[in-house]
Amino acid sequence: MDAALSKAKASRDADLADLVEELRIPSVSAVPAHRDDCIRNARWLQARMEALGIETKLVDVVDGGMPLVVGDWNGRPGKQHLTIYGHYDVQPPDPLEGWKSPPFEPEVREGHIYARGSADSKGNHLATLKAVEHLFAAGGPPINLRFLIEGEEESSGDTIAGYVRANGSKLKTDAVLVWDGGFDEFGSPALATALRGILYVELHASGPAVDLHSGTFGGVAPNPINTLARIIGELKDRNGHITIPGFYDAVLKPTDDELAGWKVKERHYAETIRQMTGVRALEGEPGFLIAERAGSRPTLDANGIIGGYTGDGSKTVIPARASAKVSMRLVPNQDWKAILASLEKYVVELTTPGVQVNVVDLGSSPPVVCGADHAAARALRAAYTETYGKETALVRAGGSIPVAVDFQEAIGAPMMVSGISQADDAAHSPNEHLVVDMYHRGIEAVIRFICKLGDQ
Ligand code: BES
Ligand code: MN
Repeated sequence: MDAALSKAKASRDADLADLVEELRIPSVSAVPAHRDDCIRNARWLQARMEALGIETKLVDVVDGGMPLVVGDWNGRPGKQHLTIYGHYDVQPPDPLEGWKSPPFEPEVREGHIYARGSADSKGNHLATLKAVEHLFAAGGPPINLRFLIEGEEESSGDTIAGYVRANGSKLKTDAVLVWDGGFDEFGSPALATALRGILYVELHASGPAVDLHSGTFGGVAPNPINTLARIIGELKDRNGHITIPGFYDAVLKPTDDELAGWKVKERHYAETIRQMTGVRALEGEPGFLIAERAGSRPTLDANGIIGGYTGDGSKTVIPARASAKVSMRLVPNQDWKAILASLEKYVVELTTPGVQVNVVDLGSSPPVVCGADHAAARALRAAYTETYGKETALVRAGGSIPVAVDFQEAIGAPMMVSGISQADDAAHSPNEHLVVDMYHRGIEAVIRFICKLGDQ
């Protein structure tokens, strides 16, 4: 272990240079024009694994999907087997004008590297690959390894789910490290006890057959923007309560231990979140702690709304259609299929007579629960204590990782959701960044973790 840690210390410049190189690839999976970039990123990772002697393949499961990078190394028969998950795709960089330096031209400023994908999640998966590289340079990893790095995490693709479900029995492993998360809001390394699921829909509202003069027809013609805005408004009331019938029926209450832990940090948490988000006041359901609202309660948010004239000046028009992207974060034990069915009925009730609203599912995945005290989790927590000098926080992650449920159901091994990003890294926002030192220490933490698994 010490030899690999020394290699990591001596390779800091080269390790950062490799991160810069990967961050230059604009691997935006949601945008078809970036498909070739995604494929280039997959090959880039494949080449790096091959150079270490890891046996690799790019798997295409879905036509037009992004390849899954699979890397296998089985040089330690009889020892533990660890699967490491990551994703090489990134969110769209929009709005571009919000960036101080271009999103795919990484720049280091004051100890942070700025680029789309730095925190979510190239810094994460590259830290694991670098840890393995340094272990190889120091005589080889003490355990067997499999990398599964997908390119559709940010756009809810089916490739990795299809692969895992079709090959479940061949993917036997002792533990899965889903290294696509991060520290808690207070700067402690964290291990997720649950991930929220997601139901992501597009609402399509259509009214008149064509755009109309809003003077000639205003007062009689139905306006799909007005109706859609009302529907979105009614889906969540002023108190943050979601009104879809049956929405809360299956929600599990947090444990008394969780609640007690959240109560202690409530004040500090409120202030931290306020500062991080730059908001005047926090919103949400009264009667629930902030940590509860951000992790163990479900939510609903409009992510984008399109319709009518949005150019310069004014245009007097009643648009023929409008649409909106709406996501719901779901918690154990909510069932997205049941909620989708209820939502479909509910929008018919909420709409006006002249506006038809269709609900289209854009990709959904269930919430998952993860244990935190199995042997591999204990090894990870010990590695964190040695690396960061802090205890690992057990958290409810508010985000979603669609493949998590497939790992649990098709592979079944204990799963750890963790990583090195920070809550204020601006993931999915302009000026996304990663603390450079976090990347290097993340490499050290993974080296320690793998060595501890080797001792089991
Ligand atoms: N890395 C995040 C998920 C995450 C966030 C885990 C915070 C733990 C803490 C991941 O890349 C992500 O953003 N997932 C998407 C999934 C969605 C597009 C289906 C998300 O949560 O929005
Ligand atoms: Mn993300």
